[in-house]
Amino acid sequence: MQRGQFSSKFGFIMAAAGAAVGLGNIWGFPTQVASNGGAAFVLAYLALAFFLAYPALMAELIVGRSARANAVKALPSLTDSPILKLGGKAVGIAGLITVAVILSFYAIVAGWMFAYALAPMLDLIGLSQYSQWFKDFSVVRNVMFTTLFMIATILIICGGVNAGIERWSKRLMPALVLILLLLIGYMLTLPGAEEGLKAYLVPDFSKLLDPSLLVSALGQAFFSLSLGVGCMLIYGSYMSSSENIVRVGAWVTLIDVGLAFIAGLLIIPAMYVAQHYGVEIFDQSGQLLNGDTLIFSVLPSLFDQMGQVGIIISLAFFLLMSLAALTSSISLLEVPVSYVVESHKMKRPTASWIIGMLITGLSLIIIFNFELLFGLVIAITTRYSQPILGLFFCIYAGLVWHRDKALTEIKKGDQHAEYSIFWRIWPWYVRFVCPVFIVAMFVHAL
Ligand code: PFF
Repeated sequence: MQRGQFSSKFGFIMAAAGAAVGLGNIWGFPTQVASNGGAAFVLAYLALAFFLAYPALMAELIVGRSARANAVKALPSLTDSPILKLGGKAVGIAGLITVAVILSFYAIVAGWMFAYALAPMLDLIGLSQYSQWFKDFSVVRNVMFTTLFMIATILIICGGVNAGIERWSKRLMPALVLILLLLIGYMLTLPGAEEGLKAYLVPDFSKLLDPSLLVSALGQAFFSLSLGVGCMLIYGSYMSSSENIVRVGAWVTLIDVGLAFIAGLLIIPAMYVAQHYGVEIFDQSGQLLNGDTLIFSVLPSLFDQMGQVGIIISLAFFLLMSLAALTSSISLLEVPVSYVVESHKMKRPTASWIIGMLITGLSLIIIFNFELLFGLVIAITTRYSQPILGLFFCIYAGLVWHRDKALTEIKKGDQHAEYSIFWRIWPWYVRFVCPVFIVAMFVHAL
């Protein structure tokens, strides 16, 4: 069978950045900043994203492109030792399970975005009396929109790499950046914004080494770059060999981290603006109220200040967010689907529907036990699973795999790769520094 491949460098960067940029940047990052000490979290996140997540991303991309297979096949192929082969397979399978669980909560939040995009549409056509239903938290609404969102994801994945993933991502990302910048410009003119900017940009250094802050920031960096679950490995496997993989990986990291930073620049000050207009954000002890639904109270309050224009901006924003969530959810579903298609020879549409529906079932279980499961599932997958599995990807790429093979792969897209700064640092860096730091952070947290 012919493997799918992205058609151009721009197409690949946009698709991989589309996979990386999603709810993690615009919902997850600001929420974490708000609940973990503001600017100190931002600083920790930036450092960890560039110094730990970027090298780990490169490990996945390089292994994926070299093996041209899903993680369950790719990791064992890096070694001849039977035990290490088994270990590689186990890491790949743990990634598949993690990715399925991530998608199950991801689809719920994406469903909220979708519902919030429909509400202003109803306002525009004069059906305001119904729009509140879409914004109120209810089991029926959550079930409906999560399912709708999963069906959209499944339909795109049925189409495969070129037809589906790339086409969507190329259009979406630039529009998202534009609307965020416009909103920031407007928001900065409102009262309260300055205080919010300070909270976002002036760190309290004493909080910086707080173990819980560091583990959260690490999880956020790995979640945002879609690491540890074989997602970027699969994307790497679809990348053409002639691309300069190091540069492409750097672009994806810059775009992803840049977008999270910009989103924070909007949401954190907007929280203080919303507070100024009477929205309750913190409780009396200064703790954040309703972290998970924070942006759904903060942003509408901003849009309300804009009058009629606000309805259109709100529509555009939540629509773009739904689409950004979609380009990430397709990358999540692609991981188990490509595994079943490649390793069990199932047809792509059949695999997409079966796995997609199983994951939807998981989402429904979470929705019906929301208080108990939602936060728990997020913490287990993003705070722990992703960084720990990412650690194993680093070990396989750096320690288990032969160094020369990695170099050969990189050189396909850059003949002078062995003289580059990247090659002088990365091999020992993923082998020792990344694993030691990740372990140290967890030990510190315990
Ligand atoms: N990186 C995505 C986001 O920030 O929204 C979430 C994600 C996608 C995580 C794909 C993991 C993954 F495999």
